[in-house]
Amino acid sequence: MKGKAFVITGGGSGIGEACAMAIAHAGANVVIGDVDLVGARRVAEAARACGVGAAAVQCDVSVEAEIEALIGRALAEFGQLDGAVNCAGPVLPRQQIADADWDMWRKLTDAHLFGTVFSMKHEIQAIRKSSGRGSIVNMSSRSGLNATREMGSYTAAKWAIRGVTKTVALECAAEGIRVNVICPGLVVTPMVRRQIGDVDPALAAGAPMTRAGEPSEIADAAVWLLSDQSSYVTGIDVPVDGGIMAGPAAIRPAAGAS
Ligand SMILES: NC(=O)c1ccc[n+]([C@@H]2O[C@H](COP(=O)([O-])OP(=O)(O)OC[C@H]3O[C@@H](n4cnc5c(N)ncnc54)[C@H](O)[C@@H]3O)[C@@H](O)[C@H]2O)c1
Repeated sequence: MKGKAFVITGGGSGIGEACAMAIAHAGANVVIGDVDLVGARRVAEAARACGVGAAAVQCDVSVEAEIEALIGRALAEFGQLDGAVNCAGPVLPRQQIADADWDMWRKLTDAHLFGTVFSMKHEIQAIRKSSGRGSIVNMSSRSGLNATREMGSYTAAKWAIRGVTKTVALECAAEGIRVNVICPGLVVTPMVRRQIGDVDPALAAGAPMTRAGEPSEIADAAVWLLSDQSSYVTGIDVPVDGGIMAGPAAIRPAAGAS
C-alpha cells in the first residue's frame, strides 16, 4: 500500500473514516470526499499525522460533477489513483413500501446507488490513465444480502450495489482492476447511533457473535481487498457481520433454567 493513493467517499465519519485511517496507517495517501467538509478535514488531518499525504474535498456523491472534481483532485495531489472505498450515503427515515415517498426513494438511490456507480466510473478512468491497475471496494450491507423492514429503498440500493460491483468486476478483470463489495452487519457509527437511539447496539445487531461490529473491523477487510494480499479476488461479497448471514442468533436459556 505504501506510496499509493486512494479516494474514500463518506470518509468524514464512521466506516469511511476508519477505512481512511487504516489506509493511512498502511502507508498510502488518502483523499477524503464527504458532504461534511468539517469531518473530511478532521480525518485528513489525522491521516497526515500518520506521515502520509491527505486531502479533504467537499463532495456530494449524488452529483456526478462533484465526483469528477473529487477524483481530479486525487490525480492533481498525488499524480495517480490506485483505488477507492465508496462509503458515502445517508440514512433516511424508516418507511413501509405501502407509504413509499418518491422523493425519499430518489434521494436515497441517488446517493447510495448512483453515487457508487458514478464514483466507480471516474475512479476506473483515473486508474486507467495513471496506475493502470487498482482495487475498488464498495459498501453494501447485510441489508444487501437479505432485507430490512421499513428500509426498502436502502435494501434495494444495497442489493443493486452488489450487482453493479460484479458487473464492473467482469468489465475490468482482464486489465487488473479489481472490484469487491463489503456487506457489514450493524457497526457502531454516528449513523447507527442516530438510528437506534437508546437501544443496546449488541441487541440491535442481532448477531450470533452477540455484539455489534466496530468500524475498524470493516476497515481491516477493506485494506485486505485494496492490497495485493487479495490479488486474485474480484467480484465477491464479503459479509463482515458477526455471523448474521450464517443464521439467526441463538436464543439462550435464562440463567439457572435447565
Ligand atoms: N453502520 C452500519 O451499521 C452499516 C451497516 C451496513 C452498511 N453501512 C454502510 O456503510 C457506509 C457508511 O456508513 P456509516 O455507518 O459509517 O455512516 P456515517 O453517517 O457515520 O458516515 C457516512 C458518511 O457519508 C457522508 N455522506 C452522506 N451522504 C453523502 C453524500 N450524498 N455525498 C457524500 N458524502 C455523504 C456523511 O456526511 C458521513 O460522513 C454507508 O454506505 C452505510 O450504508 C453501515
